[in-house]
Amino acid sequence: MKHLFKKGSDLTNTTLLLLHGTGGSEEDLLPLAEHVDPEANVLSVRGNINENGMSRYFKRLRPGVFDEEDLKFRTRELKDFLDDAADEHGFDRSKVVAVGYSNGANIAGSLLLHYSDALAGAILHHPMVPLRGLSLPDLKDRPVFIGAGKNDPICPAEESEELEQLLSEAGADVTLHWENHGHQLTGTEIDAAADWYRNNKNRLD
Ligand code: MLT
Repeated sequence: MKHLFKKGSDLTNTTLLLLHGTGGSEEDLLPLAEHVDPEANVLSVRGNINENGMSRYFKRLRPGVFDEEDLKFRTRELKDFLDDAADEHGFDRSKVVAVGYSNGANIAGSLLLHYSDALAGAILHHPMVPLRGLSLPDLKDRPVFIGAGKNDPICPAEESEELEQLLSEAGADVTLHWENHGHQLTGTEIDAAADWYRNNKNRLD
């Protein structure tokens, strides 16, 4: 997959996996990584799907309705890519923490719902429930931050709560942070995610 890798202060540190929103690129979330953990390695990946010129991580049938077969295939593809990228770049595969926004948060959520060992933790900015009806993996004590908007027209508040519940059922330790806004990523949400990361750093390593 098209990506960029930036070594942190030490290759054995956490690697932040950056996953952009629809129409974004691997450059978009670089400032977030710097804010969350300036010492971390950064692996920023561009979505393989081209929807009318916009990059995404999986196909959708229409806004908010996902092509589930493609989502499953792309989730596996991203997991395999992470395994290969760890060999190629030499980072610790067990210390990958996703930072995703919107479509990027949705594929990160799908990684969590499919595999117990794909991610050490995740910051999900405005995710939806990517898939329902899966048998859940063991995510015991896996730290997950969800940033959600009370007035998000793309991801209704109930769906953020449903995702929190699903991940908690799998054993994850979920923090659900609310903003009184819509789908946009606000400065206060970014600060809350960075605080959460600092407070959970020892469990993410
Ligand atoms: C998606 O398609 O993943 C969600 O609707 C979010 C987005 O608009 O990208």
